[in-house]
Amino acid sequence: MTFLSPDRDDIIDQIADIFERRGADTYLGGAVTMAEHMYQTATLALAEGAPDALVVAALLHDIGHYTSEFGEYRAEDTLDRHHDAAGAKLLEGVFPPIVVECVRLHVAAKRYLCATDAGYYDTLSPPSKHSLALQGGPMNLAELAAFRSLDFHLGAVRVRRWDDGGKTTGVKTLSFDDFRPLLRKVLGADGTGERT
Ligand SMILES: [Fe+2]
Repeated sequence: MTFLSPDRDDIIDQIADIFERRGADTYLGGAVTMAEHMYQTATLALAEGAPDALVVAALLHDIGHYTSEFGEYRAEDTLDRHHDAAGAKLLEGVFPPIVVECVRLHVAAKRYLCATDAGYYDTLSPPSKHSLALQGGPMNLAELAAFRSLDFHLGAVRVRRWDDGGKTTGVKTLSFDDFRPLLRKVLGADGTGERT
């Protein structure tokens, strides 16, 4: 899946279309829909006063679930579908690196937090615990050092925590249209947008 044209508003419309058509899908076999999950995650980022690019990363962090070449993740899958890498690949060259890397690293950030934050694992949802094993489990020392050396890894950890918090039923969130101005701003007039 690639964006049909590099035009900023067209890209936003394409994302809106995906969210509209596929947003009712169940999120990883859980109680919330994909749309509820994505909007909750981004709304948590906004509520924390996060930089615009991180709010956009929170909104788009699971867009890799929609790339058809990887199929759609199901909780009973025995292979990780790599939706993190798929999402980053889709956004690369379109959104600024901070957005791309936070999407790419949001699964690694779960493995990072499992290794560094006592008690974090117990806060994960059952599907998230299930996928952790498929994703490699908690990071070892070498993986921790490599992760800490990456640009934007702290942003990815923040996105991860909003992701984990965005799985509650019945929570009122903003809608896609509420995020359009932020998306326009982060994409920038020339499609390159904010860099930090
Ligand atoms: Fe997520």
